Amino acid sequence: MKEKIAVAYSGGLDTSVIAKWLQEKYNAEVITVSANLGQQKELVGIEEKAYKTGAKKAIVLDLRDAFATEYIFPALKAGALYEHTYPMATSLGRPLIAKALVDVAKAEGCTAVAHGCTGKGNDQVRFEAAIAALAPDLKVYAPLREWEFKSREEEIEYCQKHGIPVKATKENPYSIDENMWGTSIECGILENPRVAPPEDAYQRTVSPENAPNESVTVEIEFENGVPISLDGKTLAPVDLIMKLNEIAGAHGIGRLDLIENRLVGIKSRELYEAPAATVLHFAHRELERLTLDKDTMHYKAKLANDYADLIYNGLWFSPLRYALNAFVEETQKVVSGVATLKLYKGNISLLSRWSPNSLYDESLATYTEEDQFDHKASIGFIKIYSLPLKTYYRINGAPIPEQEAMAK
Ligand code: ARG
Repeated sequence: MKEKIAVAYSGGLDTSVIAKWLQEKYNAEVITVSANLGQQKELVGIEEKAYKTGAKKAIVLDLRDAFATEYIFPALKAGALYEHTYPMATSLGRPLIAKALVDVAKAEGCTAVAHGCTGKGNDQVRFEAAIAALAPDLKVYAPLREWEFKSREEEIEYCQKHGIPVKATKENPYSIDENMWGTSIECGILENPRVAPPEDAYQRTVSPENAPNESVTVEIEFENGVPISLDGKTLAPVDLIMKLNEIAGAHGIGRLDLIENRLVGIKSRELYEAPAATVLHFAHRELERLTLDKDTMHYKAKLANDYADLIYNGLWFSPLRYALNAFVEETQKVVSGVATLKLYKGNISLLSRWSPNSLYDESLATYTEEDQFDHKASIGFIKIYSLPLKTYYRINGAPIPEQEAMAK
């Protein structure tokens, strides 16, 4: 019996060659799986394209809602930014695509799956670690790690030989991956970190210089850590993210130029555009400042880093990620309210924050006569708080640098 392989299919050159190549090389039957994660590039015509590669079946899945609610929002609630910066649009998309691939493989009786990731990136790890978790016995093919093609030209020639239509458009100088949470752009001139990003590298934001001279104000309401409305209008998760991408992108928000540490040991340079993600992380963080108690807030900031590392490093479906997520969920019970932000030429500023669970107590914070804080209570507090210091230095003398200074 022929081997049946489910192939993650974007419709681009690499995955088109993969679909055909697997049939030839392994005498296999191919089912293509394409996922809509809210990317701007249309998926129309992708089935026809897949059939032209000889695929037995072409499946297109609309995963936008699952992506927003089950992947993006947990990362947002966790405050997960890789190396404190990157909102991880690409990293978050991979486990979901892997899950879709596994689901199709199971439903269609495939014994293997295939992806089009290269042998030096993070994405191969994300795909294969997710598949290992979800379907430990499924075989994985990663043709880019083993095939004979050395250039794009060779791949195009292969397509022409097999009647696979390839667009005769000029090659994009960059490698781009995108979905509703952001766009990742690398390669070409960007490989030199001394070179400033050319304007044509950016795909979905205007430059701050070209942004409107008038600012725009956005009001975002959160419920339990999740955004539910924009400017007073309740919106579905996908619609809210898309709308915010449009508004913030037009004001030059969300551009990043990052040298990052890949899992496979390489430092790489990537540009990111994530207008909605940047605004939502900003607003969410401000609401947490208002609603989380100090200890939980500080503790959560430490875990946010670990949570981000797990996502970036392909361990979405790991026991540790689920455990950290349970912690995050617990903290978000009080993260409800409204943040009002001003977007202006690439910058976000906070105009106002409000929450029914706000811990900010004006009668305690005020310096007016309305003040309710018991100033005298501080006397006893400081006495005991500083007691260990008093004891230590009474026994050991003044702190060393002070002694040295006194000796001079
Ligand atoms: N460096 C990012 C990550 O590992 C994006 C990788 C894909 N980038 C691309 N331009 N194709 O999540």
